[in-house]
Amino acid sequence: MGKLRPGEGEWLGSSHTGRPFPLWSFLLLLGSLLSCGLGSSAQGPGEWTLWGSWTRCSSSCGQGVSVRSRHCIRFPGEEPCWGDSHEYRLCQLPDCPPRAVPFRDLQCALYNGRPVLGTQKTYQWVPFHGAPNQCDLNCLAEGHAFYHSFGRVLDGTPCSPGVEGLCVAGRCLSAGCDGLLGSGTREDQCGRCGGANDSCLFVQRVFRDAGAFAGYWNVTLIPEGARHLRVTHRSRNHLALLGSDGRYVLNGNWAVSPSGTYEAAGTRVVYTRAAAGPEETLHATGPTSQDLLLQVLLQEPNPGVEFEFWLPRERYGPFQEQTQALGWSLRQPQPREVEPQPPEPPAPAAIPPRTPAPAPDPCAPCPDTRGRAHRLLQYCSSDFVFRARVLGRRRQAQETRYEVRVQQVYKNRSPLQTREYVWAPGLCPCPPLTPHHEYLLAARRLVSPDGTQDRLLLPHSGYARPWSPAEDSRVRLAARHCPV
Ligand SMILES: *[C@@H]1O[C@H](CO)[C@@H](O)[C@H](O)[C@H]1NC(C)=O
Ligand SMILES: *[C@@H]1O[C@H](CO)[C@@H](O)[C@H](O)[C@H]1NC(C)=O
Repeated sequence: MGKLRPGEGEWLGSSHTGRPFPLWSFLLLLGSLLSCGLGSSAQGPGEWTLWGSWTRCSSSCGQGVSVRSRHCIRFPGEEPCWGDSHEYRLCQLPDCPPRAVPFRDLQCALYNGRPVLGTQKTYQWVPFHGAPNQCDLNCLAEGHAFYHSFGRVLDGTPCSPGVEGLCVAGRCLSAGCDGLLGSGTREDQCGRCGGANDSCLFVQRVFRDAGAFAGYWNVTLIPEGARHLRVTHRSRNHLALLGSDGRYVLNGNWAVSPSGTYEAAGTRVVYTRAAAGPEETLHATGPTSQDLLLQVLLQEPNPGVEFEFWLPRERYGPFQEQTQALGWSLRQPQPREVEPQPPEPPAPAAIPPRTPAPAPDPCAPCPDTRGRAHRLLQYCSSDFVFRARVLGRRRQAQETRYEVRVQQVYKNRSPLQTREYVWAPGLCPCPPLTPHHEYLLAARRLVSPDGTQDRLLLPHSGYARPWSPAEDSRVRLAARHCPV
């Protein structure tokens, strides 16, 4: 980053013939300008020459370093050039033979049998790893209780056994993903070396469907190419993962797999189930080489399965289409998409027509009232549960009044008319009902103490769900679970 690469800085511009002219011509031109009296005002840094070529690898086997350098050309009054004059890169040669003498041992052994400490005494030297600077050549006199530091180790010497990093000019450096030692360049979340996370999108959602029955529920498709997958939930339910061949990678067929690492879709999936407290996690670095299907095996109400992964931009559109086609987006009505960059607009034609975007709503968002537990509670504690179409809405005083046409009654403590008023507290009731839509509603009967007002009340954060056959069967199921 910010470093000159070969080829950059080589040519400063093109002449009118279209032929680039080399740096030297520019400097000569500059030089002649300077001699015309501009010299005293010369400012800024000098200019680097081109990089020289890379030296041969410092080792003859295994890892080593190779170096290249460049020179700073400065005119009087100019500052030193910015940047490094040397660049070191990792070179990887075939592995050393098993009994080869390590590089550091060789360097210590150079002093064997030679008078080195100002006396005629000689010693046999072996590496000593307990000294402060691991890039000094610290050697222990064999059979003696002292070590001596013979200055720096040669470039390319491993910093210490079993640790990544090579010594360069007395410092321990490790290679960035660009192979340059000490560059600090890393792969971004999209797998691009030195990238800015902009070639992929971050998908982060919570799957909240409570599920009307115990069993396997689809949570999400994890498309091929996904990276940095993380899934967590806190419940006694179990995450399950299927390969694209339809076979379970873990927790399939109602059998619970042990915590551990599983190979799937060309990556390693780390599955952990906490020993204390109900919690499960899945992690995988990816990229996945095929689609995976994430499911949850429900045994109790689902408090939410959180999942996230990074997806190559070109796979995001098809992923959205697929989840919508499967109707999954309906069960997860508030996907949280965190997109570091404005996403490429998904192909508009691909998205099935939905309700037109509502006008900006001055009301604050409502609390989340999804899930089976909520449905059960509301169903059982309500006086009425019915399917209704909202005909109109009127806001008055501190209340909202909906006019509804009752279409189907699931539960009632007293007869309902075909047309009813349903009242909700406040001018921004939660959940909000939209005119001309059909809902499943749970309402309470509210009779004023003097008996003059008899109303249906939709309590704050009560139960009001857009009607659908699935919602219908969930409500019927809830009916069976109320305490009598
Ligand atoms: C990419 O995303 C990761 C995770 O969110 C973040 O830690 C990192 O700083 C990001 N990199 C860049 C270059 O923005
Ligand atoms: C889950 O998704 C798979 C793949 O799209 C589909 O074949 C299966 O029927 C779905 N299962 C459920 C319970 O929806």
